[in-house]
Amino acid sequence: MYGLIHKALESMVLSHHGEGTWKKILATSEVESDSFLTMRSYHDEVTFALVGAASQHLNLSTAECLEAFGEYWLMEFAPKNYNMLLKSTGREPIEFLGNLDDLHDHISSAFTEFRPPSFAVEEISETVYLLHYRSSRKGLESFVVGILKGLKKRFETDIEIEVESREQLENGEHVIFQLKFPRLAGD
Ligand code: HEM
Repeated sequence: MYGLIHKALESMVLSHHGEGTWKKILATSEVESDSFLTMRSYHDEVTFALVGAASQHLNLSTAECLEAFGEYWLMEFAPKNYNMLLKSTGREPIEFLGNLDDLHDHISSAFTEFRPPSFAVEEISETVYLLHYRSSRKGLESFVVGILKGLKKRFETDIEIEVESREQLENGEHVIFQLKFPRLAGD
């Protein structure tokens, strides 16, 4: 993935756990020191090696580490670096999620080689929605969960998040999340 993602992981570890921990993660991951050029695309193995080493040194499972990273991405990294883009994506969760493909499309002129995920929102009822996440990769479901948990905080809405189904594709996966919103006042 793009070095931007690696920079964000580095920034999470540096701000929450310090430089010593980051040095250990780098040593364990054995990734090249030039793997952090924001606008360069790297093999996914580099990204997964960093996440694997981070989970080891932060004493988290891979899923927990990806989830923490997703929440950090939405709550701290993206607001600091892409705040205008984030703001224009939506003023409430469903609008925001419905515009995620536009968000990634918007930066595709800068990130020319990237393979962004795809998201689609399906309304089941006034309070229940399905979010379809399709990726050309496998294993990033927990990153999405972390971002969704960040969205609950960003929009101060108590959404219940559950995985409804998972389908392995030849190249990637399709995960359907069920999002349950609080009942409307007066219901
Ligand atoms: C302004 C904010 C954002 C920027 C600049 C951004 C940019 C990127 C970039 C550069 C990648 C790497 C793709 C690659 O190297 O092939 C990526 C991946 C990804 N992004 Fe975003 N993104 C943003 C917000 C979001 C949000 C809000 C979500 C919500 C769920 C999201 C979900 C993902 C996921 C799941 C991936 C992993 C790739 C995959 O699933 O295959 N991103 N994004």
